[in-house]
Amino acid sequence: MASLLITNIKLLAGVREENSLLRGKQLAKLPCIENAYLVVQDGLVASYGKMAEIQYRISDFVNTIDASGQTILPAWCDSHTHLVFAASREDEFIDKIKGLSYADIAAKGGGILNSAKKLHAASESELFNLAWKRLEEVRQLGTGAIEIKSGYGLTVEGELKMLRVIKKLKEKSNLSIKASFLGAHTYPLEYKEDHQGYIDLIINEMLPVIAKEKLADYIDVFCETGFFSPGETETICKAGMSYGLKPKLHVNQLNSIGGIETGIKLNAISLDHLETLTENDISILGGLKASPSGEVWRGISSLLPTAAFFLRMPFQPARKLIDAGCAIALATDYNPGSSPSGNMNLVIAMSCIQMKMLPEEAINAATINGAYAMELQNEVGSIMVGKKANLIFTKAIPSLAYIPYAFGSSLVDKVMINGNMA
Ligand code: NIG
Ligand code: FE
Repeated sequence: MASLLITNIKLLAGVREENSLLRGKQLAKLPCIENAYLVVQDGLVASYGKMAEIQYRISDFVNTIDASGQTILPAWCDSHTHLVFAASREDEFIDKIKGLSYADIAAKGGGILNSAKKLHAASESELFNLAWKRLEEVRQLGTGAIEIKSGYGLTVEGELKMLRVIKKLKEKSNLSIKASFLGAHTYPLEYKEDHQGYIDLIINEMLPVIAKEKLADYIDVFCETGFFSPGETETICKAGMSYGLKPKLHVNQLNSIGGIETGIKLNAISLDHLETLTENDISILGGLKASPSGEVWRGISSLLPTAAFFLRMPFQPARKLIDAGCAIALATDYNPGSSPSGNMNLVIAMSCIQMKMLPEEAINAATINGAYAMELQNEVGSIMVGKKANLIFTKAIPSLAYIPYAFGSSLVDKVMINGNMA
């Protein structure tokens, strides 16, 4: 692939010479270069610097882009989504407007079970086409790397169907994609009174095929009252870990029942949701205090503000978590039940507006820390020599803070993935 020179970049944001997961105060530092150039070679960032110090002649390049007035950022890294699903659930949205809670809807067979019913009726190719459209949509909104979960199958056939769709997305898309197996999303009706029966199905029937066909990178469990207990979560994760799948868990969305302690004991890559936290949980997540089993947590806390917004729940206490020293990532949780949006720009705006994160903190949490939450930090998440040229070109904006400030505007002009305009 030929090389490309991008000139006159008003602001090049998120440039880093080395990788590190950002914790606490470090999140507020977003290194930027004003009036910059950037060279892309073979889809990767080859060099960058100040226009005033450019060593190249524009005539040496076949491909050039004049980015006058534009800000360039690393593409968003969305580390928690359920992007493969068969149908939307706006009927439940109306039920919620009328007063039912997420838990009420789940208890009457709606929610995840409703999505599972619809998923069973859809073919693999239908599911792929729907997911592909969503992937295209989020790419245009600036997402360059994404994690996608199973969890609407809840049978051997259904879970494998979802994971095969994700595998096909990985093969066909130029986005960086990671897959998580979330067979433990809820108990199917026939196993409501037979938890061990469903856990056995996950361990003996699903995991061996997933491992054999290399269908997942991570194992996820919805650890929550009425769903999977901390003990069940541990059993399922350990079985996944025996096949090399690292845990990445749904914890403390609705209740604080010990999911954090379990995740820390299992050395999870990330603990996600965290709407419902005690002061003790916050100290543990920040690494200020050891978890009851003795470990000091150094992993990632992923916050999903659009899920809190959509379910009308209190937002995650981002400020307290950052002040406690936490490594925060931001993600969309794109799914039909609690966050029917895969728009990372909106996630960043909500994080600043409702969770009082600084724009720099939110951008770092949605790029480099998101990359760490998918173990993709060597490929994406910052503008660094050798990483993928996954870039957001903004429309003319006065400052970086304008991105979350003008929350309803579409400020992404173009998106480059692996050096190609999407
Ligand atoms: O992350 N809370 C568990 N899972 C999803 C919602 C799933 C659904 O309602 O379909 C979430 O919010
Ligand atoms: Fe989720």
